[in-house]
Amino acid sequence: MFLSVLSDTQERIKTTFEESISSFDKKLFAPMLHAFSGGKCLRAFLAVESAKIYNLPINEVLRVATAAEVIHAYSLIHDDLPCMDDDDLRRGKPTVHVRWDEATAVLTGDALQTLAFEILSDFKTSKDPQVRLDLISTLTKAIGANGMILGQVLDMDAEKMTTVYDLDSISHLQGKKTGALIEWSAQVGPVMAKKDNNSLRQYARLLGLAFQVQDDILDVEGGVGKVGKKLRKDKVAGKATFVTLLGLEGAKEQARQLIDQAINELEALPVSSNNLKAAAQFVISREL
Ligand code: IPE
Ligand code: IPE
Ligand code: MG
Ligand code: MG
Ligand code: MG
Repeated sequence: MFLSVLSDTQERIKTTFEESISSFDKKLFAPMLHAFSGGKCLRAFLAVESAKIYNLPINEVLRVATAAEVIHAYSLIHDDLPCMDDDDLRRGKPTVHVRWDEATAVLTGDALQTLAFEILSDFKTSKDPQVRLDLISTLTKAIGANGMILGQVLDMDAEKMTTVYDLDSISHLQGKKTGALIEWSAQVGPVMAKKDNNSLRQYARLLGLAFQVQDDILDVEGGVGKVGKKLRKDKVAGKATFVTLLGLEGAKEQARQLIDQAINELEALPVSSNNLKAAAQFVISREL
């Protein structure tokens, strides 16, 4: 049931993305499409579900949800580069720098990042310029030097350091690296509706952490064919992960606790969302 809702989101997001790059030069069209396709679209899903709470126009919401996935795709291209995690497989396909070359990968990432802001700043995304500005401003904070990029910097630092990370410092790192964009995605509804929703914010924060715990678990015990990326790499690379800190069983327990708390937060929402509940369960049971 949940997977069919997710796959419906995936199709709609892909269509919105293809429309938004249709006028682009063929040179970048292929690597952009390659990098964008094949993801779970969890961030888009969260955006769409958060917007349902406020009955927002779906065509506008889908554009914002697409922007979240466009940013995510850019971050993965750069994350896979030889100077970062040096990965040759992503979503079951060769990474952009392997399929093309490093310069193409850097530039495709740049082009995707820019595209997200092109989409958000367009009139079609919202007729209200304040909403467009709020979406852009909150996104820059989520993914910038105090958000996702800081998380990536801390993640790379951890490889070189002998510091022992505790739960707080790993949660800080992962909250930035993975959590910030997930939290932004779940705030799409409130931001577009010009409302504050702390329960949704807390839900997304807990969900983002649990999502990264599961990513760390999958690195250790996932199946390459299913996950579609190189696994068994974090320990060798010296990454600071929840599994290195807590062990496999400890990490699983941590993920379960985070998800229980996340689901609790949903109780305070004005309308019940079974899809958000199902997404929380999916995050810790997923094998991909
Ligand atoms: C992978 O994200 C990278 C992390 C931030 C942990 P996803 O697991 O959501 O990747 P796709 O989009 O489904 O490929
Ligand atoms: C990627 O985290 C986070 C970002 C791209 C911001 P990881 O390095 O853990 O993701 P995977 O395991 O390569 O998908
Ligand atoms: Mg990484
Ligand atoms: Mg990586
Ligand atoms: Mg990982």
